[in-house]
Amino acid sequence: ATAPLICPSILASDFSKLGEEIRALETAGADWIHVDVMDGHFVPNLTIGPDVVKALRPHTSLPFDVHLMVAPVDNWLEAYRAAGADIMSVHPESGPHVHRTLGQIRQLGAKAGLVFNPGTPLSVLEETVEMVDLVLIMSVNPGFGGQKFIETSLRKIERARAILDRAGSKAHLQVDGGVVAANAGACVAAGADALVAGSFVFKGGPDAYAANIQALKAAA
Ligand code: DX5
Ligand code: ZN
Repeated sequence: ATAPLICPSILASDFSKLGEEIRALETAGADWIHVDVMDGHFVPNLTIGPDVVKALRPHTSLPFDVHLMVAPVDNWLEAYRAAGADIMSVHPESGPHVHRTLGQIRQLGAKAGLVFNPGTPLSVLEETVEMVDLVLIMSVNPGFGGQKFIETSLRKIERARAILDRAGSKAHLQVDGGVVAANAGACVAAGADALVAGSFVFKGGPDAYAANIQALKAAA
């Protein structure tokens, strides 16, 4: 099996030196930089605005995988794209017309991702599968890093994989929340090809990033 893409979430990084952190992640073998955008409304936390993404853009050539936990989201897409987002992922709850939102993301020249919270059914994916370049299965309720992986997410990854395969979709299937070496293999076996990890990648400080990323790849 091919190794999954590893997408470290900078939510777990040292926010006083984000540029350095991102350069360290690139050196350590990260594939994408996962940027968790929280609006203090859709989720109970407040994080990274477009100006911060823009300031980080020159620090790496890795894709910026921007997870928008924002509602309403449509009016923010242009700003995050202009700031350097390569992938923008939205939740179906982030607006009344998710099909249109996904189209807007592609129109802006970015890849469009659709995110499912633990309590959100995959039925929306059946209706939008041709609009998505990435499906993200949340394995925790979004808002904070360092939470415990919800085991039933594995069955949901399998169901999402089946929907994508049935539709002949080449979309990535990503998992986010509580991903550690001990469950990375199960995520990939269930059909995921991209793993987001925050606390697992950042534990031990910059000297450990490469080994932590390797541990995730090796486990899968
Ligand atoms: C949760 C975020 C995740 C989170 C991952 O709301 O979307 O990306 O930061 O962090 P860990 O790996 O620590 O669960
Ligand atoms: Zn995320």
